[in-house]
Amino acid sequence: MRSKIENRKSAPARRAGKIKVAVIFGGRSAEHEVSLVSASSIIAALDKEKYEIIEICITKEGKWLCGDGLLERIKNKKNHYEEGGSFISPDPFFNYPSLVDGPPRPFTKDDLDVIFPVLHGTFGEDGTIQGLFEFSGIPYVGAGVLGSAVGMDKVITKQLCENVGIPVAPYIWFFENEFRNSSQKIINQIEKKLGYPLFVKPANSGSSVGISKAKNRKSLIKSIKLALNYDRKILIEKSIENAREIEISVLGNDDPEVSVPGEIISSNEFYDYDAKYIDGKSEAIIPAKLANPTIKKVQEYALLGFRSIDCAGMARVDFLVTKKTNKIYFNEINTIPGFTSISMYPKLWEASGLRYPRLLDKLIHLAIEKKKQSIRKGKNFTPKNEWYRN
Ligand SMILES: Nc1ncnc2c1ncn2[C@@H]1O[C@H](COP(=O)(O)OP(=O)(O)O)[C@@H](O)[C@H]1O
Ligand SMILES: [Mg+2]
Repeated sequence: MRSKIENRKSAPARRAGKIKVAVIFGGRSAEHEVSLVSASSIIAALDKEKYEIIEICITKEGKWLCGDGLLERIKNKKNHYEEGGSFISPDPFFNYPSLVDGPPRPFTKDDLDVIFPVLHGTFGEDGTIQGLFEFSGIPYVGAGVLGSAVGMDKVITKQLCENVGIPVAPYIWFFENEFRNSSQKIINQIEKKLGYPLFVKPANSGSSVGISKAKNRKSLIKSIKLALNYDRKILIEKSIENAREIEISVLGNDDPEVSVPGEIISSNEFYDYDAKYIDGKSEAIIPAKLANPTIKKVQEYALLGFRSIDCAGMARVDFLVTKKTNKIYFNEINTIPGFTSISMYPKLWEASGLRYPRLLDKLIHLAIEKKKQSIRKGKNFTPKNEWYRN
């Protein structure tokens, strides 16, 4: 049984033709639009001599679509949902058209060499779809189920990072029902342990959606209510004032490499959704001007964070570094970082000597490598007798 998967999954290396890459974009999270822009630049940069690209869109409602030129149609709202559903079967031997388009092209799963999920946030970056990929047996770019799920949850990520000695901003977290039942007690704890100003975040969030800064009790309550619209788990962090936002790109599986650091100069008081994508006034400084020991330290923490959450393929690790004292705080890890043409992840690699198309080659190669490794670690155990029979 295993050898059949093995043969199929080593196909790209042996096949003379192009590697078929399914780029999955859109998704059900609040970051759907960001994903469309990330996917556009990935599709534009993938070497068409090497790769055949299969476009798959997951709509905000969760419908799967597949077809040539789909991304452009979706962005221009020219797509009709009737145009054809698609799905990836969790059964690796299901060889009927399993990634189905309406006409003209049905794909069997043997046609897919690698999946490139370009889905930010929940239902894409959080391990859910990675679980499906694992079942399907198709190699995929980026972290596996555990790394994705942990990286998505800011509380668990912080706990794991703290555990290996990476400094994080002081924090408190709670579930929605706990807040509903004892809001006064929780607010008192927050004020006592953290004080103002504070950052209030849905534990599973991205692109700053649902995140706000609270400067007093009234705005704290408002911020918690906002965050509860996005998650039942809430993270409250002490605000690191007068801090620089420093980001590092990581690439690799078990022996990852780090890029030079970059700095974000946000156009708003903090790097919110508008400052990230809409007003166009935020700036990126690459490489960030930091003293060498600080660079070494953030790179070391980035690798340690990557390892701690069991990440693979890629991640962008973000830090806050205080302006006066250069004190470093880990902020978060993004397992499917932004890939727009102005996004930090590819830009940091470019500044480190790795051009965008080559970066994509590496990511695809790493996905195939990871799959081979997991096949080698297959389930070889067979009981010495059939003890389980009656
Ligand atoms: N503890 C903090 N102190 C200061 N600024 C913060 C803090 N936490 C978050 N921020 C600001 O909020 C932005 C978004 O927070 P972040 O945790 O990175 O969420 P997201 O995953 O949505 O990007 C950061 O880029 C930074 O500008
Ligand atoms: Mg962030």
